[in-house]
Amino acid sequence: LSVSTASAAADAVSDWLENRFGKPATSYTSVASHETIVTSYLDKRPSSWTKQRAALRAYLRHAKNSGLPTGSARISLRPVPPQDWTESWKRHFRPLEIGPTLLIKPSWSARVPLPGQALVVLDPGLSFGTGQHPTTGFCLRCLVANRQARAKQSFLDIGTGSGILAIAAAKLGYTPIEALDFDPQAIRTGRQNAVNNDVCGKIQFRRVDINRLPCRSTVKFTMICANLVSTILLQCQSQILARLERGGIIVLAGILKKEFSSVRKAYEAAGLKHISSQAENEWRSGAFQS
Ligand SMILES: C[S@@+](CC[C@H](N)C(=O)[O-])C[C@H]1O[C@@H](n2cnc3c(N)ncnc32)[C@H](O)[C@@H]1O
Repeated sequence: LSVSTASAAADAVSDWLENRFGKPATSYTSVASHETIVTSYLDKRPSSWTKQRAALRAYLRHAKNSGLPTGSARISLRPVPPQDWTESWKRHFRPLEIGPTLLIKPSWSARVPLPGQALVVLDPGLSFGTGQHPTTGFCLRCLVANRQARAKQSFLDIGTGSGILAIAAAKLGYTPIEALDFDPQAIRTGRQNAVNNDVCGKIQFRRVDINRLPCRSTVKFTMICANLVSTILLQCQSQILARLERGGIIVLAGILKKEFSSVRKAYEAAGLKHISSQAENEWRSGAFQS
């Protein structure tokens, strides 16, 4: 059930819908038209809809007469086609190759890896990370580019989501590997994906909010990927850098282009050297060395 109104009336209309139908309403305002749509998702068509609509119309008229702008005050009730959200993203998830070294593919793809190509088979469920996002892509390319064949390189995946980076790292030979996320769903999905890829013994998944990690750590990593958002990268800089080995590489992603320079400055001020960065769509990701 949606009501087109003016933004000034969004709260009042939301409250009215919630009181009447017992469901919290959402609202968004179109930048182009300045129109605000307040929507309540109902389980079924309201009983005596004609009466309910009349009551809503009366309320909107009353609000307008009391001086609250209500815009077009258009009311619409329409069914939302059932959609299985755990399935609908699948059509966007295609096999992704990082050169001849790494292939990430969904579990339903029949694609066969090239000889010597590490394979990650993924079913991200509702957690972030299929490799299709530019920020994940940059992290994967850094993992491949910085892998040194016979060296022992450890890896920390901060904000693991589907576990994609940790699993790719395990397949590329990084060890030991730790994967952190504060979302229990991500930890479940990551673990399951690690089991499916036969690397669960190689990755330690931990449910933790990085805000709560100590700013000192004796456990350090050769390589860290932190695909988060700029605010957390800045806010948790000490927690993140405390876990990076001297000479180690950190990949920072989830940064909007316009925010990149402030993140870069903060990490350079902490003594890191900016070694590469790449922009794609509205994102810019960067790799730094300590
Ligand atoms: C953009 S996703 C990255 C997923 C995956 N690593 C990738 O590169 O595709 C960010 C992940 O960080 C997690 N995250 C966000 N803030 C966090 C925090 N404060 N502590 C731990 N995890 C966090 C989110 O739950 C989410 O799974």
